[in-house]
Amino acid sequence: MKADARIIPIVNALKAPPPRAEHLLVPIEGELLDKRQRRVRDLRISVTDRCNFRCVYCMPKEVFDDDYAFLPRSKLLSFEEIVRIAGIFVEQGVEKIRITGGEPLLRKHIENLIEQLAKLPVELTLTTNGSLLKKKAQALKDAGLHRVTVSLDGIDDAVFKRMNDVDYAVGDVLDGIAAASAVGLAPIKVNCVVKRGANDDQIVPLARHFRNSGHILRFIEFMDVGASNGWRMDEVVPSADVVARINQEFPLEVVDANYHGEVAERWRYVDGAGEIGVISSVTQAFCSSCTRIRLSTEGQLYTCLFAQSGHDLRNALRQGGGNERLRRLIASVWRERDDRYSEIRTAATTLPGRGKVEMSYIGG
Ligand code: GTP
Ligand code: 5AD
Ligand code: SF4
Ligand code: SF4
Repeated sequence: MKADARIIPIVNALKAPPPRAEHLLVPIEGELLDKRQRRVRDLRISVTDRCNFRCVYCMPKEVFDDDYAFLPRSKLLSFEEIVRIAGIFVEQGVEKIRITGGEPLLRKHIENLIEQLAKLPVELTLTTNGSLLKKKAQALKDAGLHRVTVSLDGIDDAVFKRMNDVDYAVGDVLDGIAAASAVGLAPIKVNCVVKRGANDDQIVPLARHFRNSGHILRFIEFMDVGASNGWRMDEVVPSADVVARINQEFPLEVVDANYHGEVAERWRYVDGAGEIGVISSVTQAFCSSCTRIRLSTEGQLYTCLFAQSGHDLRNALRQGGGNERLRRLIASVWRERDDRYSEIRTAATTLPGRGKVEMSYIGG
């Protein structure tokens, strides 16, 4: 389904006759909470839906081929528009901004956006596949980025190449991680999505590689995001198994969360070689503490990673009018939020064709 067809034209509500519009423009008082009493704390901004990888669990080649309709440039939010929206979110309580993609380092002059966002009083991070990190690490640091998270689904070259499906070598990602580390984009987190039968033999080798590195390796359960990755429950390796496999070789003990609502469960090596994390969005959903909101490349606001539709901010931005109007629109979207997809995931909701937004579009 084309992204446009999924849009709930909330902006129409602003154009609508007085009663509805008045409802949206009621002054916002008190703390901004959604229907489940959750605050908005993390804004994830996707800056491109394109990627130079074709990870089998995210952008399978059969779907994301030469004919795939990526967003045209004219539809993308400008940096100015992104910064304006981000500023409003910070006023509403956002403390952390993460830049995502597709592959965010493919967006031209991304460091200019980072430089603008770095002026806001937030923690500023970016998730990347690492392929352009060697070239860009210094510029990102100079622009004010605080740290990076790098995806890496295997330490064996053949396995990693099968996962990214574009013949990209492990060594180049490791060079990117080293470059990021050298300029101080730390602590670096390394994300591995585990898919049974595809790369689960990499769990222990990856752990071995990153022990004593100072980087935090995290294993993510393969999720049913989007509608094209052919997700099956039997391909999910539960985090408990991941921990058990590593623990057999390198004993682990659990560590308290850094903050309420942290997505990853933390474990440390008993021998002091550092820590790892596991993200169990399938076997142990964390919706009850979910404070995340996502802004797509074209300005759609998504209140859940598994949403079927977004709320159009781009039109609202381009219609003119001051920030107050946008602030109220954003607040009304958050106040209406009731999502908890991972907690209620069922056979019916994981069926293909349900129209969930793709991971490469919304950025994870
Ligand atoms: P830091 O702790 O600040 O590094 O952030 P984080 O833990 O949110 O890390 P990151 O943004 O890298 O998220 C890691 C992965 O967890 C994502 O790529 C997703 O696969 C998954 N994830 C993050 N947020 C959510 C969420 O809201 N819902 C679900 N189901 N999965 C999520
Ligand atoms: N399940 C779990 N994680 C995924 N990611 C992309 N698709 C999926 C999926 N289906 C991860 C990437 C990256 C982050 C942006 O999201 O590997 O670390
Ligand atoms: Fe690209 Fe990341 Fe998706 Fe892989 S997981 S295809 S690197 S956006
Ligand atoms: Fe948040 Fe939706 Fe993920 Fe639950 S499934 S943690 S509500 S983004």
